[in-house]
Amino acid sequence: MKSIQIFRTVAQVRQWRANALFAHQSVGLVPTMGALHDGHCSLISQSLQDNDKSIVSIFVNPSQFAPHEDLDAYPRTVDADMALLNQFPGKKVDAVFIPKVSEMYPSGISTNIDEQRGAFVAVKGCSEQLEGSSRPQFFRGVATVVTKLLNAVTPTRVYFGQKDAQQCVVVQNLVKDLLIETTVKVLPTKREANGLAMSSRNAYLSEETKQKSAVIYQSLVNGERFYQEKSQHGPVNVGEILARITDTLNDSTGFDIEYIALSHPETLEDLEVVEPGVGAVVSTAVRVPREGSSQQTRLIDNVILH
Ligand code: PAF
Repeated sequence: MKSIQIFRTVAQVRQWRANALFAHQSVGLVPTMGALHDGHCSLISQSLQDNDKSIVSIFVNPSQFAPHEDLDAYPRTVDADMALLNQFPGKKVDAVFIPKVSEMYPSGISTNIDEQRGAFVAVKGCSEQLEGSSRPQFFRGVATVVTKLLNAVTPTRVYFGQKDAQQCVVVQNLVKDLLIETTVKVLPTKREANGLAMSSRNAYLSEETKQKSAVIYQSLVNGERFYQEKSQHGPVNVGEILARITDTLNDSTGFDIEYIALSHPETLEDLEVVEPGVGAVVSTAVRVPREGSSQQTRLIDNVILH
């Protein structure tokens, strides 16, 4: 069986892509920051199913971290990630792109936005709220690196998880507005048995906190159930849905709720009522205790109302 090719440079990726193009083969890209888990695996499986060739990128992108955030501590597990990709059941990915920071940021990169030089991509209107309000440079960083990866790979399709709902909206608008020729595929959130959304940051949690964190999804589901009942009779007031969610979430001691929001599914504007047929993204960010440290880990999750 052919082994997975590992590329370190954009030039290598471009050569590989050119060969696929000559052979009239479609290419799927799964962008990741590594620390691969079942959520990534479902994106990879879908890419393998949809495309002739699949490539996974593993790059912990500095520009989406603020100076005080966990860039240095972010899990880097390339050996385990490669082992997982090599043991993938059935068809395997064809290539993995693991660039150095200097390859992706030829003009250099600082996490301090005032020191940054060079080109960056901002997707205005959907980047400032929700995750963007506590992480003002986050989506600029995501949009910038995703643009670079799309430019390097020019994939037929690119895959993202619904868990990062706002990231999906930002990328969809990026691809639309910058006329990038690719199809953005968004796949459902993968969850632990207790409902906790899978995330590389779950590695920071003790078993006890992981169990307690199940309440995040449960509270969203309570809001969703309430909406499903009420929406049969027309638009539903956001305040009433929020009350169902906070009732459950407020019970969990030691958890700090950063936000719970109901937003328009395409523009992410704040809603006052949810119209059946238009629906909403119900999203939350919660800070929970981190294993063996006084710091907290920030967990996000969302459900979609239809
Ligand atoms: O979702 C992620 O892991 C990252 O934000 C992404 C899309 C790989 C960009 O760095």
